[in-house]
Amino acid sequence: MRVLLFGGSFDPPHRGHAALLSAAAERVAPDLILVVPAFKAPLKVGHSAPAADRLRMVRLGLLPSLPRRWRRRTRVETCELLSRRRIYTVQTLARLHAAHPDWELHFVAGSDAASSWKHWRSPQLLLRLCRWWTARRPGTPARRLPSHFHVIRRPMPDISSTGLRADLAAGLDRSGALHPDVAAHIARRKLYGAGLEEALRAGLKPSRFAHTMAVRCLAEALARRWGEAPRRAALAALLHDCGRLMRKRGQARHARARRLKVPLLAEVIRRQPGLLHAYVGEDLARRRFGCGDEAVLRAVRSHTLGAPGMSLLERILYVADAVSEDRDHPKAGPLRRLAFRDLDAAFAACLSAKLRHALERGGWLHPLSVDLWNRLCARP
Ligand SMILES: [Fe+2]
Ligand SMILES: [Fe+2]
Repeated sequence: MRVLLFGGSFDPPHRGHAALLSAAAERVAPDLILVVPAFKAPLKVGHSAPAADRLRMVRLGLLPSLPRRWRRRTRVETCELLSRRRIYTVQTLARLHAAHPDWELHFVAGSDAASSWKHWRSPQLLLRLCRWWTARRPGTPARRLPSHFHVIRRPMPDISSTGLRADLAAGLDRSGALHPDVAAHIARRKLYGAGLEEALRAGLKPSRFAHTMAVRCLAEALARRWGEAPRRAALAALLHDCGRLMRKRGQARHARARRLKVPLLAEVIRRQPGLLHAYVGEDLARRRFGCGDEAVLRAVRSHTLGAPGMSLLERILYVADAVSEDRDHPKAGPLRRLAFRDLDAAFAACLSAKLRHALERGGWLHPLSVDLWNRLCARP
């Protein structure tokens, strides 16, 4: 019996998954198709949707999107999901092979998973256990796909789960990429930060919400100017002050209770509790709003104090926060214009202005910001 497996986190399942599985089924002509949602995909850090929701969405959206003749042969294999622990593909394949030695196993993987082959557990055994199939999503360079994958030459939709999650969290309409029942499930269960903007509007002071929207607008524009993904910048900006959904005392309690890694936490709470919201915001972004994008989370965390070796996204958010349209200090306009000509110069000027402002008020300077300034000065 010929069996085609389709594994992944399906976070969420989208039209690209259905297209890939249908194309692979046409090539393999399987007697049975097993869709295997992972409890936790070994190569991914964190899931944005709980396992039960991903399983539900696979049943709601992926299976009904398949042509009828393949749908009739498809089962959802829940052993990985229900194990509630991390299971490697090689373990699933070895178990199936031991239970059904007569099965001819085929595995179809998306091009992102295929191109990260060197990280898969026990590759030699994987090669012996089954045949490998993939299809190229637009934008995936040919050289990244390992040679043992049979590449199905059929145009695939340009949809990635990572991009989809970022768009949904930023409030963009991606219903075209999703089965309507999956889109409805995401909205109903408020997955992937759907409803983030409403939560911010309801929970922040009106002036803070207006500031957040202004930062989003500037961060997106700067991202376009400097080659960062605008939707990522928009998400980072939306989330950057979400820590302020809590009052200052609540932030201090939260930072202690959750043991957040705030450098000099006690000192910050005593001398400058306003800095805490960046760290609390990172935690809320991850846990409450389901953001799993580490680059976005880092940008949220570093938007008050900065950090050594800040990425382009971090610098964009730092500058956008300092000189967004709602800022009324006299240098905001000129610095905003400077940010489009020379982002690094604008970044240095924003940091200098923040430090000077604190010094003029006789305030405490956090060593991280001082260190950041010294590093900038040490540059040739
Ligand atoms: Fe902030
Ligand atoms: Fe802000």
